[in-house]
Amino acid sequence: MNIVLFGPPGAGKGTQGVRLAEEKSIAAIAMGDMLRQAVAEQTPLGVQTKQFMDAGKLVPDAVVIGMIEETIVEEDASNGFLLDGFPRNVAQAESLDEMLSRHGFALDAVVFLDASEELLLERLSGRLICKACGFGFHRHYSPPREAGCCDRCGGELYQRDDDNEDVIAQRLHVYQEQTAPMLDYYAHRSSFCRVDADGGMDEVYERLINALEQMH
Ligand code: AP5
Repeated sequence: MNIVLFGPPGAGKGTQGVRLAEEKSIAAIAMGDMLRQAVAEQTPLGVQTKQFMDAGKLVPDAVVIGMIEETIVEEDASNGFLLDGFPRNVAQAESLDEMLSRHGFALDAVVFLDASEELLLERLSGRLICKACGFGFHRHYSPPREAGCCDRCGGELYQRDDDNEDVIAQRLHVYQEQTAPMLDYYAHRSSFCRVDADGGMDEVYERLINALEQMH
């Protein structure tokens, strides 16, 4: 099964995507994670992209499109994949369609995770991530058992550089301007569904599974 998961920052793409990919035994491909890894490793690509991410702007299309193609071809995506954070504008969506047909893949589901702006702000400002394993927590909604320490691996928890008020506002603006128009691109497809992401993590996951089941 090949899935695109898109929606505003903080809608829960990472949270739901990892769980869904595990359940379906498909590769979870998160563009933001790949870019943050490149920044942390200070690769030439990481140095080039850091300024865009820190400012809450989109990294240039040519960079992310190249990365996704490499990943889909090289990762063990034979059992399927879930794309989180790609595509993020109509040009990327068009490139994805072209790239998938060139490699003989098709999209089985395009899921739009929808949530109110108030909720997004609350989720993003409280997010904590494990430095070692990348697992996500939230100060109020899913706090770690021990403050500052990952329940899964004991790693140190940190707040993302772009999870501060100013950059969050910019990311939400970029979402409205560049990502939201993808709704028109995908909404007419039979593989499209909208899932209400306003609710507890398990509740949203159940809606997601139900939406996918109804589709197939
Ligand atoms: P990226 O890392 O993709 O960030 P984003 O889209 O802003 O999305 P987030 O990761 O912030 O949110 P999410 O929806 O995954 O929410 P999460 O599940 O973590 O991209 C970062 C940057 O990289 C971009 O700004 C851009 O610069 C660049 N980039 C990435 N892709 C690109 C592309 N294609 N083209 C160009 N540039 C690109 O949840 C958030 C918090 O809420 C967590 O703490 C979680 O525990 C909590 N939470 C989640 N769900 C619930 C729930 N149901 N109830 C309570 N709490 C919840």
